[in-house]
Amino acid sequence: MKVAILPDLAAIAAVAADRFEQLLTRDPEAVLGLATGSSPLPLYGELVARQQAGRISFSRARAFTLDEYVGLPADHPQAYRSVIHRDFTDQVDFAAGAVEGPDGNAPDLGAEAARYDAAIREAGGIDLQILGIGADGHLAFNEPGGSLASRTHVGVLTQRTRRDNARFFDGDVDAVPTHCLTQGLGTIMEARGLVLIATGANKATAVHEMLEGGVSALWPATLIQFHPDALVLLDEDAAAELTLADYYREVWESASGLD
Ligand code: GLP
Repeated sequence: MKVAILPDLAAIAAVAADRFEQLLTRDPEAVLGLATGSSPLPLYGELVARQQAGRISFSRARAFTLDEYVGLPADHPQAYRSVIHRDFTDQVDFAAGAVEGPDGNAPDLGAEAARYDAAIREAGGIDLQILGIGADGHLAFNEPGGSLASRTHVGVLTQRTRRDNARFFDGDVDAVPTHCLTQGLGTIMEARGLVLIATGANKATAVHEMLEGGVSALWPATLIQFHPDALVLLDEDAAAELTLADYYREVWESASGLD
């Protein structure tokens, strides 16, 4: 695991974008895993800038998103399929149809979940997955208490997540769907590389648990301690509760990283 505590969002975006640039340079047909939420937005801005500058291209790449609300109309501005197009993929040169997300309006959600897992597998698996983290330690929409080996599945959002996400629904928690389709933790762990971005003081406890707590269904993100290639990018506020912060800084500055 590599942990970087960086001074600002621009520094986080640059380090994360370097990983994507290296991958796309090595393999223009890479399969990317994309996350919605506010945490990856600086990264997406940086990737758009690099594509416009001709440093990278997504024209032969494919992408899969992590999760989706159940039951929002397809054209709802907060449906994650709309969000990812607006926030990122429509601003770069992905080919039509190259960006996929689970269908939260599928008539048979269980079948849709299985289809989505199979589609990722058939694409050869995800090379690099961007992740945020919920304040309750969720990854994608894998809430506390679920299986650490789950596949893409229908989930129930916690009250806390619905309250956290109400800001995207004009502050109305009742407008936030109760259910979701989400890649499972087992699915996410199969990505060959993970880049997790966490910023802000409301993530500090979850970040501490993720990096320094015991692996537990109570804090689903702790599972990434088992991932062989996870890069965690933090700002000072998100890093505020870390016991080993000074050590992470030392290791990062020595340009090696923890194994
Ligand atoms: C949402 C998403 C997650 C995201 C997380 C944090 O509920 N399902 O994929 O990582 O919450 O969001 P944000 O980055 O906006 O804090």
